[in-house]
Amino acid sequence: MSTTNSETNSADPYFQSLFAERIGGSGYGKGTAIYKFEKIKRAKRKALADFPDRKLIDFGIGENDGVADAKVRERMAVEINQPENRGYADNGIGDFQQAVARFMQRNFNVTLDPATEINHCIGSKTALSMLPACFINPGDITLMTAPGYPVAGTHTTYYGGTVHKLPLLAENNFLPDLDSITDEIWERVKILVLNYPNSPTGRLCPPEFFEKVVKLAKEKKFIVVQDAAHIMLTFDGRPTSFLETPGAKDVGVEVHSLSKGFDMIGWRLGWVCGNPTLVRAFSDVKDNCDSGQFIAIQKAAVTALDDESITKRVNAKYRRRLEKLVTMLNECGFDCQMPGGSYFLYTKAPVASADGGSFDSGEAASQYLITQHSMVTVPWDDAGPYIRFSVTYEAADEAAEDALMAESKKRLMSAGLTF
Ligand SMILES: Cc1ncc(COP(=O)(O)O)c(C=O)c1O
Repeated sequence: MSTTNSETNSADPYFQSLFAERIGGSGYGKGTAIYKFEKIKRAKRKALADFPDRKLIDFGIGENDGVADAKVRERMAVEINQPENRGYADNGIGDFQQAVARFMQRNFNVTLDPATEINHCIGSKTALSMLPACFINPGDITLMTAPGYPVAGTHTTYYGGTVHKLPLLAENNFLPDLDSITDEIWERVKILVLNYPNSPTGRLCPPEFFEKVVKLAKEKKFIVVQDAAHIMLTFDGRPTSFLETPGAKDVGVEVHSLSKGFDMIGWRLGWVCGNPTLVRAFSDVKDNCDSGQFIAIQKAAVTALDDESITKRVNAKYRRRLEKLVTMLNECGFDCQMPGGSYFLYTKAPVASADGGSFDSGEAASQYLITQHSMVTVPWDDAGPYIRFSVTYEAADEAAEDALMAESKKRLMSAGLTF
């Protein structure tokens, strides 16, 4: 048994020594490290206590503020009453797979066989958590970007693999430097996880980079998982899928989500598509983890996928809010541009404030903005000191958005930030 009793004491339950190393072993629950989002929560509480009359401006939330489109909710209201929708959905229903195939064809000119090249998932997070089970044996490597969405990496380590991190840097246009990887690492790489439009950097991937990835995947023998959760929130040109790349279907899958682009974040629905053997491996693992998303939700999603006006409306709203944010921040001394996609603006953190504050990290800057100005951002220090503003704040209409920008500007100007 790999677990030791050294960290247990008599007050512990008998099972304290039974926890697996992957979640901390016998030390589980005893750590004192405070994680990023908990620090933000605590700073928010402090700001509310110190300045009870000042409105908290929350650019920290990474979730759509809008509810699903009325047409989708109406379809759901019908489907929820249909007895035939009651049972286990297992690996999904044909209607949903066919709607996905139409969506992929219409938006990306990608042709997929609904039966073998598309499988639903209960949100893309769950797909990213399951895909490592298809490939990772102890000692294998998953290539992940930093910053990035960590779920596939976490599960890689659960299976005894390791994560090799590739920083996303401005000098590389926020693309991972695949030429930096040594042969020793390549020999152990099984999966490359990409995510474009990228969270949190908001950057897009040019087609040439996807072409390079396809070529390299065949040469070095790894599979590609492209996380397209934010794809319908593309602002620079039309959204593009990895599967448009010649040869992409030979080397990988793309993971999509109804959450962001369709305002269906809590509905928990997405899909994995691409190479049929890889999709099948995913569906085999999935079949051993869950019994599928409620069929009524899958049918309501058909309405969403077939209605282009929904993604257009959601896209236009977040584009408008990001444009206002970029203008406002640049007036306050930030140096930022409109992101290519996602509802995030990722920008260099300030280094100092007029009242003598000095910040050696994104986290220090973010804490200052919350506690001193009641403005919430999320820090990212994985590849330099950055902070992320999300435009998913609640604002009833455009006038409310403008008022929020004006108040943000007033507070940031008074902070006298330097960069
Ligand atoms: C990059 C990225 N991938 C995947 C997800 C998971 O999305 P969902 O499980 O809602 O489809 C998120 C959510 O924040 C994300 O930002």
